[in-house]
Amino acid sequence: MTNDIHSAPKFFGRRKGRTIRKAKSFLLDNFLPRVLLNAEKKTNLADLFTEPKEKYCLEIGFGDGEHLAALSLQHSEIGYIGVEVFKNGVANLLSLMTGIKEGEQIDNAENITLLPERSDNVRIFDDDVRLLFEALPSEAFDKVYLLFPDPWPKSKHAGRRFVNPENLQHLARIIKKGGILQIATDHPIYKRWVLYTLHTNTDFVWTAQTSDDWRNPPADWHETKYQRKAVREGRRPVFFEFKRI
Ligand SMILES: C[S@@+](CC[C@H](N)C(=O)[O-])C[C@H]1O[C@@H](n2cnc3c(N)ncnc32)[C@H](O)[C@@H]1O
Repeated sequence: MTNDIHSAPKFFGRRKGRTIRKAKSFLLDNFLPRVLLNAEKKTNLADLFTEPKEKYCLEIGFGDGEHLAALSLQHSEIGYIGVEVFKNGVANLLSLMTGIKEGEQIDNAENITLLPERSDNVRIFDDDVRLLFEALPSEAFDKVYLLFPDPWPKSKHAGRRFVNPENLQHLARIIKKGGILQIATDHPIYKRWVLYTLHTNTDFVWTAQTSDDWRNPPADWHETKYQRKAVREGRRPVFFEFKRI
């Protein structure tokens, strides 16, 4: 797969929602380029960060970025790559990283900095992660998070589900042996789909020993927007952890 526009995979979903207000759109124009990943060339993860990192994690489809913002604040020793194609979500993560909120007056790009308590350990790719896969090195990530991916529950849309053999092949290449693929979902059809698809995959093994292991979030968990929505609407999220073998 290449970034050539003619061979780019078709994306199913929203890229932009409600109007992005002035402060967030200023962040997209002026702060995003400082933390943006380039998918055009092979990426050496260590070169992306100003300080050496102990390990690297990837979050695919970070939505509003709350989980990524909280984890990266907690773990300055880890380098995070966040990928989200939805512009409003990217703008929200930038707002969480800089503390600049909607409605705030900001007109000088030089005044935008990371919040003082944050280290510079997040890089962002603001497009379809499938366009990034080739640029990522093999066995690079200790953990990949895929939290509440769009379930596409109708069987005629099953081909749009992110968890599929082709994407798993890319993930198997970039996750270290012994590394983790963490998938959370609240949708009954997607729960079964994930277990079936991973069961028939020879690169990953489900780590759960008891039902508590998938019913409860892992220790360092931070709630996401979709998780809250699911719980509010009476759906029970599950937290599957698959180890790269
Ligand atoms: C249902 S939302 C969940 C968002 C967030 N993880 C949460 O739990 O609140 C799924 C997100 O994945 C993003 N997404 C879907 N396919 C993607 C892809 N191929 N590359 C990057 N982001 C993707 C969508 O834009 C959307 O924001």
